[in-house]
Amino acid sequence: MPERGGLPIRLEGVRVERGRRTLVHDLTLRLEAGPLSVLLGPNGAGKSVLLRLLAGLLQPSAGTLEPARRPGEGSAIVLQRPVLLRRSVLANVEYALRLRGIDGPERDQRVRRVLEATGLLGFEQRPARRLSVGEQQRLAIARAWALEPDLVLLDEPAAPLDPPSTRALEEAVRRLHEEGRKVVLATHDLGQARRLADEILFIHEGRVLEQAGSGEFFEGPKSAEARAFLAGQLPE
Ligand SMILES: Nc1ncnc2c1ncn2[C@@H]1O[C@H](COP(=O)(O)OP(=O)(O)O)[C@@H](O)[C@H]1O
Ligand SMILES: [Mg+2]
Repeated sequence: MPERGGLPIRLEGVRVERGRRTLVHDLTLRLEAGPLSVLLGPNGAGKSVLLRLLAGLLQPSAGTLEPARRPGEGSAIVLQRPVLLRRSVLANVEYALRLRGIDGPERDQRVRRVLEATGLLGFEQRPARRLSVGEQQRLAIARAWALEPDLVLLDEPAAPLDPPSTRALEEAVRRLHEEGRKVVLATHDLGQARRLADEILFIHEGRVLEQAGSGEFFEGPKSAEARAFLAGQLPE
């Protein structure tokens, strides 16, 4: 796939330190434009730190990340607990577009398209903060999607959701990816990883131990840590 919108992303020896702690160690990897990439690993593994690097919200303490990332430039991140405006569903999406100077029929078209794709048509006038958790997550995705970023970073979007809300969310994520956007989704949920991933990046204690096609990873994980994780035990 040709290079576009800052993809592929190349990390070479990337380390992030906070005080005396190293949060991620020596990350060397490449993210291509095509596959839906799932960042899989237990709590505290470094998934959010890596997503924040990719979003340009954090800079490496050492190593190189190319092309350089800046917040909002070609990427959008949906945080684990998205902050919605205390206004209607419609106003939340429109506001994001207005900040980018997108108005008029173009704005209306985008709003309709993303609300339809995330299953929120008919919810326009509902107060965003009264939506269910699942609907709020889908609204956060819709708001990011409306900006048409090449790269969408999703941080455990389904963590607090029940199975029907999870299905609705995953459907929205699939549609986002089918539209040709690069999606990197962090999760500790094996089921979600199996359902969504084209490729898995398995992360453990701040290191990406494996990057492999989803089939290959689930059939034969190479690291002991990944095998233990798949067997349902958290590695020591
Ligand atoms: N700003 C920070 N300062 C210090 N430690 C942090 C900071 N952000 C994250 N960490 C630590 O880095 C590790 C990885 O965190 P995180 O990326 O949030 O894990 P995950 O998202 O996989 O659950 C954890 O041990 C966490 O406590
Ligand atoms: Mg996290």
